[in-house]
Amino acid sequence: MKRAAVGLVLLAGLAAAAGSALLAWQRGLQDATPPSAAPVSLERGAYLVAVGNCAGCHTARGGARLAGGRPIPTPFGIAFSPNLTPDATGLAGWRADDFWRALHFGQGRDGRLLLPAHPITNTSLVSREDADALHAWLQAQAPVAAPRREHQLRGLYGSQLAIAAWRALYFRPGVYRPDPARDAAWNRGAYLSQGLAHCSACHAGRDALGGDQGAADFRGGLLAGLGWVAPSLHDPAEAGVQRWTPEALQRWLRDGQAEGHSALGPMAEVVLGSTAALDAADRAAMGAYLRALPEQAVARPEPAEPSPRRRERGAGLYREHCAACHGEHGEGRHDDGGAPAYPALAGSRIVTQASAANLLRVIERGGFAPATPGHPRPYGMPPFAGVLAPEDLAALASHLRQSFGHQAGEIDAVEVLRLRAAAH
Ligand code: HEC
Ligand code: HEC
Ligand code: HEC
Repeated sequence: MKRAAVGLVLLAGLAAAAGSALLAWQRGLQDATPPSAAPVSLERGAYLVAVGNCAGCHTARGGARLAGGRPIPTPFGIAFSPNLTPDATGLAGWRADDFWRALHFGQGRDGRLLLPAHPITNTSLVSREDADALHAWLQAQAPVAAPRREHQLRGLYGSQLAIAAWRALYFRPGVYRPDPARDAAWNRGAYLSQGLAHCSACHAGRDALGGDQGAADFRGGLLAGLGWVAPSLHDPAEAGVQRWTPEALQRWLRDGQAEGHSALGPMAEVVLGSTAALDAADRAAMGAYLRALPEQAVARPEPAEPSPRRRERGAGLYREHCAACHGEHGEGRHDDGGAPAYPALAGSRIVTQASAANLLRVIERGGFAPATPGHPRPYGMPPFAGVLAPEDLAALASHLRQSFGHQAGEIDAVEVLRLRAAAH
C-alpha cells in the first residue's frame, strides 16, 4: 500500500518535471534574428496583410477590421482571435521583436504559447523582413478597443501544457529554404502558399489530434465545425490544379471563377480575402507552384449499398428542383449574352469528390460565387436545407454522383446526418 503511494507520488513528480521541461523547451524557442536591414514599407505591409488574410480571422462579423473577436472553430472547441490593432487591448507597445516571436515561434509577448488556431506552422515561414513590414503597417492603424474574449475549449485542451505537448508533436519553427532545383517563380509560390497564405491551414490532412505533416501537406480534410472538406490539392479529381492551364488558374486565383470551376463556401472567402489581392507576379508564382504539386490519389471511402430506388427518387427531385437552372442533363446554362450563368454539374468535381460533404453543403446552403472585379455579378442559387429531408438529399446526391457519366459512390441518409453533424 505504502509502496504504491510512494510510486504514485514519484510518478506524479516525474510527470510534473517532464511537463515543466516541455513547457520550458517550447517557451524557450527563441533566436536572435535581427530586424531586417531593409527599410520597412507600409505599402508592402498592407499588401502582406491582405495576402495573409489576417483580417479573415482577426475580424468579428460586423466588427472593426482586425480588432479580433471572431470565433475560430477547432477540433477542441472555439478559439477567439485577438485584437491586432495598436490598442491597449491589442498590440499596443508590441515591438518588431515581439511580433516576430508571435509569427515565427507562436508565442505571445509574455511568452504564452499560442494555440495552433493561429496558423503557426505557416506564419513561422514568413521572413523577418515581411514580418517587420506587417508589424509596421499594423502599428500604423487606428487603435480600436476590443478586449480579448476567453477561448471556449473543452477540458484541458487550452492549457499551456496541452499546447506544449501538441507543439512538441507537430510544430517546428521553420524558415523557408529555397529549393535550388526549382526556379525563382516556383520558390516564390512555395513561400507564399506554405507561409503567409497558409493554404495548408485548411488543405492539410489531419490526424485525430488535429496534427498535420507540415506546411506543404495538402492532402485534404474535413474542416472542424464548418462541415466543408478542403479537398486534396495533390489529387486532380479533388482540388488538384495540375491539369489546368496557367491562365485558367491565375484567373481563378484572382476572380474565384474560371472554366466552370468556382470557389465555394470557405474557399470563396479565401479568394476574396487573400488570393484576389495577389499582384500579377505573385499570382503567376503561386499558380506555378500549385500546378507542380506532386499528384497523389486520395483513398475513396466505402460507398453506401447501391439502390436503384434511391437514385430514381433523386432523378425526380433533380427534375423538380434543379434542372431549370442546371439543365436536364447537368449541362448548365448560359445567359442571353452567351456568358456562363448556371454551372454544369456534368463533370463538376464537387459532385464526384471522395467526400459528398461539399456537394451537400452547396445544396443545403445554396450560394453565390465571390463577386470580384473580373466576375462582378455572379448568379445565385437558393438554399434547399428547409426543402429537402436527409433521405431526399441522399437520393439527390446519389443520383448526381451516378449520372452524366459520373461513377462516384452513392451515399445514404446516415452519411448525410454524419456530415451535417460535422458542421456544428
Ligand atoms: C485561421 C485563423 C487565423 C489567421 C489566418 C491568422 N490568425 Fe493570428 N491568431 C488567431 C487566433 C485564434 C489567435 C489567438 C491564439 C491564442 O490565443 O493562443 C491568434 C493570435 C495572433 C497573435 C498574438 C496576439 C496576442 O495578443 O497574443 C498575433 C500577433 C497574430 N495572431 C497575428 C496574425 C497575423 C499578422 C496574421 C496574418 C498574417 C494572422 N494572425 C492570421 C487566428 C488567426
Ligand atoms: C479556410 C479554409 C481554406 C483555406 C485557408 C484554403 N482553402 Fe482552398 N478550399 C477550401 C474548401 C472548403 C474548398 C472546397 C470548396 C471549393 O471547391 O471551392 C477549397 C477548394 C480549393 C480548390 C479547388 C477549387 C475548384 O474550383 O475546384 C483549390 C485549387 C484551392 N482550394 C486552393 C487553395 C489555395 C491555393 C489556398 C491558399 C492560398 C487555399 N486553397 C486555402 C478551403 C480552404
Ligand atoms: C435558381 C437557379 C438554381 C437552382 C434552382 C439550383 N442551382 Fe445549383 N447553382 C446555381 C448557381 C448560380 C450556382 C453557382 C453558385 C456558386 O458558384 O456559388 C450553382 C452551383 C451549384 C453547384 C456547384 C457546382 C460547381 O461545380 O461549382 C452544385 C453542385 C449545385 N449548384 C447543385 C444544385 C442542385 C442539386 C440543385 C437542386 C436541388 C440546384 N443546384 C438548384 C443555380 C441554381
